[in-house]
Formats: sequence, structure tokens, C-alpha cells
Amino acid sequence: MFITLEGGDGCGKSTQARLLAETLRSAGHEVVLTREPGGSPGAERIRSLVLQDDTLSPESTLLLFTAARRDHVENTIRPALAAGKIVICDRYVDSSRVYQGLDNPVARSRIDALHQLMIALDPDLTLIFDIDGDTADARRTIRDKASDRFEVRPREFHDGVRAGFRAIVAEHPGRCRLLDAGRSIREVSDMVLASLPETLLAPLLADLPQPG
Ligand code: TYD
Repeated sequence: MFITLEGGDGCGKSTQARLLAETLRSAGHEVVLTREPGGSPGAERIRSLVLQDDTLSPESTLLLFTAARRDHVENTIRPALAAGKIVICDRYVDSSRVYQGLDNPVARSRIDALHQLMIALDPDLTLIFDIDGDTADARRTIRDKASDRFEVRPREFHDGVRAGFRAIVAEHPGRCRLLDAGRSIREVSDMVLASLPETLLAPLLADLPQPG
């Protein structure tokens, strides 16, 4: 199973990705936890370029994110899925659809066409972490890590990202679940688990004391 986590900067999805990986491992699954841009040696090298170089045009930015994704899919994601592992990926193609569709927009049809042509692998489940601008701002400030060129954009940009992800959920209701990421870590992780097919967690449920 291939699960992706998506949302704006500061939505808490990386924490939830780690918690989800731990829970699935304790249910006996082999899990590969990975991220984009990056997740394979070649893609990690592209990551440092694409996140820092603001001289790149929107089109070349999209091509670099796609090149990184291709390397990641070839070397990390497909081999793990073929070995029967669960892959959890922090950001994937929906981030390209939203961020590159927004930042000096590259036409969405081109983003989708490039995905079909060069990647052609869609997640089974995508969790979209939705959070209001004030809470996301506060979390980004606390996190205090080196910013990339997308994170430092003004509030209107982040509001556009939020709207973009909500539109993705409306467009792909079968694959996507919208989660209220403004709640506590525990509440959000419960929502994450409730979004999974029950069979994935069955070994854990069997360990719980049965009523009566
Ligand atoms: P990262 O440090 O991984 O951010 P986060 O912790 O918020 O996930 O940086 C990823 C940045 O790259 C983020 O601002 C979104 C952007 N991005 C794109 O613009 N397009 C893409 O296809 C991907 C995967 C990420």
C-alpha cells in the first residue's frame, strides 16, 4: 500500500507520518517512511538545488521536482511496494499540483501530463492535513528551521496552498481524505488511523482485551 501525506507548511504532517509508521510497524508491517523532494540519493541531491535556487523558472522547477520524483519512485518506492512493504511518503505529486500550479502558475494540464508520462504511479490513499493560517504561522515560527524558498512566501501564498489542497480532495474523493490538522497531535493521529483500511490495523485490534 502506498500512502501519501500532504498539506501546507507547518500542518504537522511530518510528525504524523512518523507516528503512523510506528503504529503500522507495531501491527507487524514492514514500513518505508520517505519524503519528497528526496527519498533516494539522487533525489536528495536535486532537493538541495530545487528548494534553494530561486533563479529557476516555474517550468524548470516543475521538471526538477519531477526528476527527483522519478528517481525516488525507481529506487525507493517501487522496490518497496514490490517487496510487499507499506510506503508512507511525506509529500508527493499533489504538492507539485498545488505549489507549482500556484507559484507563477504552470498550467495544471501540463503538470498532470508530465505525471502520467514520467511517473505513472498514484497513491492508494492520500491524507491531506488542513490547517488555518494563524495556527500554521505559529507552528512554523516554533519549528525555527532553515526556511526553503516556498516556506518564506507571504500569507496569501499559504492561503492559496490551503485552497489548492482542498480542491484536490474535491477532485479525487476516492483517494483523498481531508483531516482537521488544527487539533492536538493525539486527535489528529486518531483521525489518521481511522482513515486506514481496517485490515491494516487488525493485528493491533486483536491484541486489545475483548469486552465481556
Ligand atoms: P520541506 O522542507 O520538505 O517542507 P515540509 O516540511 O513543509 O514538508 O520542503 C518542501 C517544500 O517544497 C515545501 O514548501 C513544498 C515544496 N514542494 C513543491 O513545491 N513541489 C513539490 O512537488 C514538492 C514535493 C514540494
